[in-house]
Amino acid sequence: MKRIKIATLLNATAPHEGILIQGWVRTRRESKGFSFIEVNDGSCLGNIQVIADSSLENYEDIGRLIAGAAIEVTGRLVASPGKGQAWEIQADRIGIIGEASESYPLQKKRHSDEFLRTIAHLRPRTNKYGAIFRIRSELSYAIHRFFKERDFRYVHTPIITGSDCEGAGELFRVTTLDVNDPPKRDGTVDWESDFFGKEANLTVSGQLSAEMLAMALGDVYTFGPTFRAENSNTRRHVAEFWMVEPEMAFCDLDCNMAFAEEMIQYLTTYMLQECPQDLELFARFVDKSLMDTLATVSQSEYVRLPYTEAVDILGRAATSFEFEVAYGKDLQSEHERYLTEVHFKKPVIVFDYPKSIKPFYMRLNDDRETVAAMDVLVPRIGEIIGGSQREERLDVLEQRMSEWGMDREDYWWYLDTRRFGSVPHSGFGLGFERMLMMLTGVTNIRDVIPFPRTPNSIEF
Ligand code: 4AD
Ligand code: MG
Repeated sequence: MKRIKIATLLNATAPHEGILIQGWVRTRRESKGFSFIEVNDGSCLGNIQVIADSSLENYEDIGRLIAGAAIEVTGRLVASPGKGQAWEIQADRIGIIGEASESYPLQKKRHSDEFLRTIAHLRPRTNKYGAIFRIRSELSYAIHRFFKERDFRYVHTPIITGSDCEGAGELFRVTTLDVNDPPKRDGTVDWESDFFGKEANLTVSGQLSAEMLAMALGDVYTFGPTFRAENSNTRRHVAEFWMVEPEMAFCDLDCNMAFAEEMIQYLTTYMLQECPQDLELFARFVDKSLMDTLATVSQSEYVRLPYTEAVDILGRAATSFEFEVAYGKDLQSEHERYLTEVHFKKPVIVFDYPKSIKPFYMRLNDDRETVAAMDVLVPRIGEIIGGSQREERLDVLEQRMSEWGMDREDYWWYLDTRRFGSVPHSGFGLGFERMLMMLTGVTNIRDVIPFPRTPNSIEF
């Protein structure tokens, strides 16, 4: 007999004989010679109620089933006389696949997110985390679909790199050298004898590689894990996160901003349509204003705000910020959130940042002071996307690299695309986990990724 998913059964339109389900016991209670078992198989938020009567041959064993046990049930799907559910299963047979014990930590009560982080291996079995990880899966699919519908090619950029994409540091080193006794030359570590013959790191962004492919395939995107060793224990940073990075040839900053807006709107609309039940859970228990926020994000026109105007608005704000706002300083999350939540009450795209606070590859504007950068800010999160038009002029790019003290030799391949058929091009990075935070109202990034990596935390 073939297993049927509970999601399918709960949407049934007629009773059904001879069905098989497999899942985990959420609760069990006994009444008048019957056992009522709530079973969840992860296919959806809902459980199905299974009714076992005392004529079942292993009724005694069934009577010992507790939360967490794995079972399989064959029986009949019948209309439920009980409240709150349309269907239930009258069991003909219940097989016990995996027993649980009283020490199963997920008992029928509300557990705090902090506690659940300490049992990250079991938390997917709760309603909330089950919903998050289904939403995570659905959002990944939506991303591929969005790009496919627009004829973008999915490219795989390397995870181990020999370059530091942002020229910014905060890298995780990759090495096979003996860390206790590395080979040395003139007193310093001899990286030439390391695996790759030079220093290597985990990537902070697939951008530079994606640019090379955009110069051949036109419109591309990469979607993969990225790593940052910044030691910031904030609610919106993890050391390992996933980034969606489109890169588009023949596209300027305006085109880039329009595309970013279109993408966030598409993804939000798609998720509202495809995951209504799971999202509803968050609207009820996590963030009462979630549906309003998602309506705004999916329907409103995003503000386009030059950085200088953002600084002016923040300077005039009646709020007192922890960090000072001044031209030439990067916006902090409190500033970003003020702009999108308080001042404009909708998503804001800040553009044309001072060149001093942005990476070398961003296109220098005619004022020679700012670059064609853009950050998309959304309520509850602040920055969700960072991107730019890229510097396509060889001489300007080389000049910028010198200012940053970068060695051109290391980037000869990057510079080659500016030598051969260079074109204006743009792209951005969407933080996948930040998008999930926005969609669910979850305020800590550790709670939207199954096994978060943060400073001093790599248990699972
Ligand atoms: O703004 P960032 O640093 O941009 C880049 O890396 C560009 N090279 C992307 C590109 O143009 N292709 O990062 C992009 C986004 C941020 O807006 C944020 O959403 C997310 O990645 N992000 C993080 N998410 C979780 N944890 C962290 N430590 C993150 N750092 C950045
Ligand atoms: Mg950024």
